[in-house]
Amino acid sequence: MKNPNVKFLKKGLLIVLGFGICLVVLVCIGIWDFLSAIWLMLPAYITNSSAAFFGGKTPIDRGIFWGKNRLLGDGKTYEGLLKGVSCGFGFGIFQHLFLCEYVKIQMPSFGPFPFFLVSLFCLSAGTMLGDMLGSFIKRRLGLKRGAPFPLLDQLDFVGGAWLLLFLFAGDWFIEVFSLDMIIAVILITPPLHLLTNYIGFKIGKKRVPW
Ligand code: CTP
Ligand code: MG
Repeated sequence: MKNPNVKFLKKGLLIVLGFGICLVVLVCIGIWDFLSAIWLMLPAYITNSSAAFFGGKTPIDRGIFWGKNRLLGDGKTYEGLLKGVSCGFGFGIFQHLFLCEYVKIQMPSFGPFPFFLVSLFCLSAGTMLGDMLGSFIKRRLGLKRGAPFPLLDQLDFVGGAWLLLFLFAGDWFIEVFSLDMIIAVILITPPLHLLTNYIGFKIGKKRVPW
């Protein structure tokens, strides 16, 4: 049994570290770039957390093994993929059409019509692609479903989203994401991801808190 005091201290340290990182990033790049980075990544964040929230039953790899281990594992399902992409894409449409164009809040655009559909699709589908690539790497290293792989677990989906954006919406990606914002996303995503996963774990939607 783990000492509860050590567990508590570890949790406390992680929270302080997470808040600390976000605060330092906020001060360094300024509130505008900080909020813009979160705004532009929201469709990806929503995709990733809704896949975990809804989960699913049908493994994308259909139970296939590659060598001794599963190709992807039971944690990557068709249902999670479809629900994740739909929620992230749908939320992006809401951000773009309702919040930006209708309510006119001053946030960066996902691009002109109909291009924003491409950038939003890259953000949501790329998220799920990156998440699958992360699991693929974990299985090749012999790690079982849910085994922690710090940083890969928290950033695989960001890599997937940026890869698709770079390939299919490169001009827009380079125009809206400054280097500062890219670094900011890499730094603030792990604490944000851990926080949402911890909430998911507490409400019984996630098997492990990372
Ligand atoms: N999920 C899903 N389908 C996907 C992606 C995620 O059903 N395409 C759900 C699964 O219930 C999964 C949960 O979201 O358990 C959390 O995803 P993640 O933490 O990435 O999966 P793990 O179960 O930790 O598996 P892995 O070790 O492969 O990352
Ligand atoms: Mg993962």
